[in-house]
Amino acid sequence: MYSKYKTIIEPFKIKSVEPLGFTTPEERKEVLRKADYNLFKIPADKVLIDLLTDSGTGAMSGEQWACIMRGDESYAGARSFFTFESAIKDLTGYKEVMPTHQGRAAERILFSIVGGEGKVFLSNSHFDTTRANIEATGATAIDLPIQEALDFEKSLDFKGDMDLVALQKIIEEKGPASIAMVIITVTNNSLGGQPVSMKNISEVSKICKKHNIPIFLDAARFAENAYFIKLREKGYSNKTPKEIAKEMFSYAEGCLMSAKKDAIVNIGGFLAMNNSTWAKRAREVEILGEGFPTYGGLAGRDLEAIAQGLTEVLEEEYLNYRIMSVAYLGSGLRKQGVPIVEPPGGHAVYVNAKKLLSHIPPEKFPGQALVCELYLEAGIRACEIGSLMFGKTNNGKFEPAPMELVRLAIPRRVYTQSHIDFVVEAFENLAKKKNTIQGLKIVESSPVLAHFTARLAPVR
Ligand code: F0G
Repeated sequence: MYSKYKTIIEPFKIKSVEPLGFTTPEERKEVLRKADYNLFKIPADKVLIDLLTDSGTGAMSGEQWACIMRGDESYAGARSFFTFESAIKDLTGYKEVMPTHQGRAAERILFSIVGGEGKVFLSNSHFDTTRANIEATGATAIDLPIQEALDFEKSLDFKGDMDLVALQKIIEEKGPASIAMVIITVTNNSLGGQPVSMKNISEVSKICKKHNIPIFLDAARFAENAYFIKLREKGYSNKTPKEIAKEMFSYAEGCLMSAKKDAIVNIGGFLAMNNSTWAKRAREVEILGEGFPTYGGLAGRDLEAIAQGLTEVLEEEYLNYRIMSVAYLGSGLRKQGVPIVEPPGGHAVYVNAKKLLSHIPPEKFPGQALVCELYLEAGIRACEIGSLMFGKTNNGKFEPAPMELVRLAIPRRVYTQSHIDFVVEAFENLAKKKNTIQGLKIVESSPVLAHFTARLAPVR
């Protein structure tokens, strides 16, 4: 009905607001110095626009807040659990549903059952916590993205696809019995938030079925992936996002989900599957760490809000606004000559700091330098995905990450178009003075997930 209009509007009006954290340039300088040039250590009220993550940062709807009041807080068998369970069964078709406090808890439970020494997990890309939970069991996690996924300038419809030739080759090399599971991450967060095509999901599924290998979806951003399929894949333009999502889930035997993304809640997750033997063991592990299997570390109210969020996230007006507003940021940055991972992803735009700040070598962390400068310039907080996060030092020799990116993740239903225009303007200013931006050195860091706690300092 409104398709003749070029302007895509936020499909909501605002009932409750939060002030932004305004600061002066001098204040930001001081805040950054005190935080040791690590944005994870900055108090959030000193941030104007927070693009650190899209996880748990979304705005719930009035209906979801009503769900919070409706929550049944019974310890066992709460009504809210059955609402939650039926929403997930309806969407995924999986028989067994277990709530968890967030995505990584579902990972830890699943991999403690199917992982272990000598086992191999294959994925288009494992998210960091997914990989860490696999490796914690002694198993190996191998990423098999299509080669084009690493060519940041190349724009393809489905850069999240898995490399089918590499998949077949590795199954033959290792032997199907050693492959514990194939995990398809939709969308592929680690490589630009790129979608996976239905064709690729179904072909991976065919290969897995042939070798009797279980396949799971990491469904954190399943709705964004479904909408990309609707927009870009032949044969899907007349299907609803829900129909498409259901088909995606039908090719897998289960899923892991961080509800903090596409269920638009501030906390929560779940594990769902068809294998009742695994589910029985998973519930035993769950009781040990998360809680009784009808609440799994969440309150009844959270379960209600997730069920409602899973419905809202599949509304076409929402998804159109969501995907188009991220693309809008991408095109704004492109116009300022800022190099980005092409095309923009579903939840974020990734700036190629290696290319923008080509005068800063990887050992001086160009991504983190850009993150710091963005904060100093305009109080915007973003996340480095580069050598600070993934670089290693072996025998005193620095090994950089394959990419130096800065992720601008957009929280769901939180910022309006003028906030995004402001971010683009901040980049316009930065691009003009890019040659004056300095690198950083690590002053102190811990061996595990160093980027969260590292202390840094500017360096010439
Ligand atoms: N899988 C994917 C694809 C993710 O992006 C995340 C979290 C998880 C699993 C883990 O879920 O945080 O609920 O335990 N990603 C966040 C991010 C942290 O900023 O991208 P969780």
